[in-house]
Amino acid sequence: MSQTPIKFAYWVPNVSGGLVVSKIEQRTHWDIDYNRKLAQIAEHAGFEYALSQIRFTAGYGADNQHESVTISHALLAATEKLKVIAAILPGPWSPVLAAKQLASIDQFTNGRIAVNIVSGWFKSEFRAIGEPWLDHDERYRRSEEFIRALKGIWTQDNFSFYGDFYRFHDYTLKPKPLQQPHPEIFQGGSSRAARDMASRVSDWYFTNGNSLEGIKAQIDDIRAKAALNGHSVKVGVNAFVIARETEAEAQAVLEEIIAKADFDAVNGFSREVKSAGAASPEGEGNWAKSTFEDLVQYNDGFKTNLIGTPQQIAERIVALKAVGVDLVLSGFLHCQEEVEYFGRRVLPLVRELEVQAVATKEEAAQA
Ligand SMILES: Cc1cc2nc3c(=O)[nH]c(=O)nc-3n(C[C@H](O)[C@H](O)[C@H](O)COP(=O)(O)O)c2cc1C
Repeated sequence: MSQTPIKFAYWVPNVSGGLVVSKIEQRTHWDIDYNRKLAQIAEHAGFEYALSQIRFTAGYGADNQHESVTISHALLAATEKLKVIAAILPGPWSPVLAAKQLASIDQFTNGRIAVNIVSGWFKSEFRAIGEPWLDHDERYRRSEEFIRALKGIWTQDNFSFYGDFYRFHDYTLKPKPLQQPHPEIFQGGSSRAARDMASRVSDWYFTNGNSLEGIKAQIDDIRAKAALNGHSVKVGVNAFVIARETEAEAQAVLEEIIAKADFDAVNGFSREVKSAGAASPEGEGNWAKSTFEDLVQYNDGFKTNLIGTPQQIAERIVALKAVGVDLVLSGFLHCQEEVEYFGRRVLPLVRELEVQAVATKEEAAQA
């Protein structure tokens, strides 16, 4: 197992309605004051990253949304160590605008911005904002060009690039970002096209929640492909965390979330994401196998099963690390209270178990 401690990120609730599509009480708010305080709690609790979301239109419980780059900058300004990952959608953003905006934010925040390139799933949103809707694999071809252009602009002077979607002629960005070689580039997905893109160009691959076996299969596939490409990619997995003093309490919260699911919103979301993945030829897209219960959390976060006591959750996190996970992307019902609890009750146990696992491995090597 890696000697590097596993990292933690949390979802920034910059869209309204919380992180589950349920009418259960959620003491999570999408406004900037709540989010600033949450970011401060999170960095104090030991979280290294926060992930913002990009949404342009209302739907599925997310009626209001703050824009991702703007809120990322505001959270960076309110914190000292936290890295904030701004979600960016090729189409509304061009690579040159993203490169320029993020380079300035990187300068202002002592090198703490990162980016998540999302390829898009929400056809109605694209239609509403006048963006052409590309087929599934074409969306990834565009995202890959976007990432290549972003990296080129950030790292080279007199950058030229001639792609099918983007073209640059002798372009020099000044100032460049502070981070070397460039701010970290994340992407999301599960499909063949998403994994292939990660194995060529991304620094980080984020995937939906899944079983340990499902996550391992994806990681093995991506790392084998990346090795053939001479590339290395780190992996983050989504998980909705319900940590309570007893397993029964944690399970009761999960049951209540699902019992109070917003039926129409979950079904509408299901139709949209299933049709977004329909063009993914191999049928392994992010939500290809998601049930109604899974979709009550947008990114299948219950499936990772970080639901139980602090000890159970810590053990499952270390098991994720053992199959190659580098980062857990966590969502919570009541974000501020539960991020604080996670830092106090779960994280120290994870660190203890990580040390034990390394010691056991060294003993076995010496025997
Ligand atoms: C962790 C994570 C975060 C994501 N954030 C966003 C987002 O903020 N906005 C968005 O439109 N799509 C977002 N996506 C969707 C992905 O970019 C991508 O469109 C989707 O996962 C489709 O995957 P597929 O190719 O496996 O079907 C996110 C996906 C993941 C896994």
